[in-house]
Order: sequence, then structure tokens, then C-alpha cells
Amino acid sequence: MKRQILQALSLLGRIAKATKRAFAFNYCFWATQEDVAKIREVEEAVWGDNAASIGQIQSRITMHPQGNIILAVNHKQQRKIIGYVSAQRIHDISGERFSWAEITDNGFIKKTHQPNGSFIYGVNLSVLPTDRSAHLGELLISFAFTEAVKRNIKGVFLGARIPAFKRYKKKHPSSTAREYLLLKHRGVAYDPELRFYEKSGFQFLKVLPEYFPDPPSLNYGVLCYLKNPFFNNPIRKIIAWLLKIKILLDIKKALG
Ligand SMILES: CC(C)(COP(=O)(O)OP(=O)(O)OC[C@H]1O[C@@H](n2cnc3c(N)ncnc32)[C@H](O)[C@@H]1OP(=O)(O)O)[C@@H](O)C(=O)NCCC(=O)NCCS
Repeated sequence: MKRQILQALSLLGRIAKATKRAFAFNYCFWATQEDVAKIREVEEAVWGDNAASIGQIQSRITMHPQGNIILAVNHKQQRKIIGYVSAQRIHDISGERFSWAEITDNGFIKKTHQPNGSFIYGVNLSVLPTDRSAHLGELLISFAFTEAVKRNIKGVFLGARIPAFKRYKKKHPSSTAREYLLLKHRGVAYDPELRFYEKSGFQFLKVLPEYFPDPPSLNYGVLCYLKNPFFNNPIRKIIAWLLKIKILLDIKKALG
């Protein structure tokens, strides 16, 4: 009997080792203070003058460590960061009007992060220009969403820009941001950034004037919302884990 138990334990150990080897890849990590300088490099490459500062990134990680995720690969035996997503916990803000600076405490989230908030607000999303259009942005959002599922969050809010609006308005001077937000081309959102969030399942709630200084968007933002379909689901932790594995496999595929 004792021998059989030992054999069973040894078999379980071998299965565990094989599983670990099979999934010996990871691309998404919670950002730590040691990653700040490299995140800043990504931010500069993506946002230029509007890049998050070292102080803002440090503060976000301090305030809400689980809300800062990086997408990274091993490059010359070092961690190369390709993407960065940052979020805070918040109450239901769907009825409010605000700018990005107001809702994120100027990007520091010190005064705005509410540890017991039932919702998430997206503070930042960046993918290096050299690695775009491989679905990494979409997968990074999905990965962050699995955290929301695991932590039983009701839903995710974020403010999108509308970077093709200025060009559109030049051709259609009487059009409003509200009309533009509803505009479709071949069944999908006309604006590329809205299309990106639409692809991830976000719905568009309303226009936010003077949301973020972005001339191509004429400074407009759009409040987007993604409901967590697994809210209060008794097996949400298992669902989150399975989703995570699927996303990591998709990232592996996307990176070739
Ligand atoms: C938005 C962003 C994270 C998407 O990353 P990604 O890895 O390229 O995302 P995906 O491959 O999943 O999706 C690509 C699609 O995003 C869309 N997109 C999103 N934002 C866009 C923008 N500002 N301009 C043009 N296209 C944009 C395009 O439609 C693109 O579709 P295509 O590949 O057919 O051209 C990346 O473009 C980025 O970092 N942009 C600058 C920062 C930013 O706008 N962040 C979001 C602010 S709210």
C-alpha cells in the first residue's frame, strides 16, 4: 500500500513537471519598481511628450501593484518590454464627466485609486510601434481582463481617443463627436481606436469633451465599458486561469 502511494506521488510529480515544462513561457508580468526605467522607454517611444513620467509609473505600481502589467520577451538574456497596461480600481463613474487628468489624478492615481472599487478604470495602454498590429494590444487587454474576472470586478471603464475625428470633420464640418462615435464603416466603428476597443468587446457610452490633449481627436475622448460576464460566477477563478492560459498561447503564436 505504502509503495503504491509513493508510486502515485511520483507519477503526480512527473505530471506536474511535464506540465510546467509545456507551459514554460510567460509573457505577461506584474510590473515592479525594477521595470520602471524600461516601461518609461516604451512610454517615450509610444507617447513622446505625453509619455508617463518615471514618477507616475512608480506611483501607479506602488498604489495598485496588480493593476500594472507588462508584456515582455527575453531578448539577449534580458527582459524586453513590448507593452504596458495600467489600471486602477474605481466606483461606477458612468454618470460622471471628467478628463483623463481628473479621473487618474494626473496619472499618479494617488487620490483616485479606490482599493475596494467594484470597477476598473484603464489608465494607460501602450504597445511599441515596432510590434503593432500583431494583436498584442488586444491580448494585453484580455490578459488584464482575466485579473478582473479573478477578482470579481463588475466591469472595466476606459477613455478612448478618436484620432481620425479631426480628418473626418474637415470633410464633414457639421458632424459632431457624438455622431462620429456612432459612425460605422462596413459594420465596424469608423475610428481605428474605437474599432480596436470594439474588437475587445467594449461598448461606447458617451463622448467626453476635453478628455485628453490630442489634436487629431480634437481633445475628445469616448467613455468605453466592458461588462464582466463572469461576475459572481462561482467558478470565476478557474475561468480566469483557463482564459490566461489561452491568452498566453495566443501571445506565443503572435510573437512567432
Ligand atoms: C492602441 C494600441 C495599444 C494597439 O496595439 P496593437 O498591438 O497594434 O493592437 P492590435 O494588433 O490588437 O490591433 C491593431 C489595430 O488597432 C487599431 N488602432 C488602435 N489605435 C489606433 C490608432 N491610434 N491609430 C491607428 N490604428 C489604431 C488599428 O485599427 C489596428 O488595426 P490594423 O492592424 O488592422 O491596422 C497601439 O496602437 C498603441 O500603443 N497606440 C498608441 C497608444 C494608444 O493609443 N493607446 C490607447 C490609448 S486609449
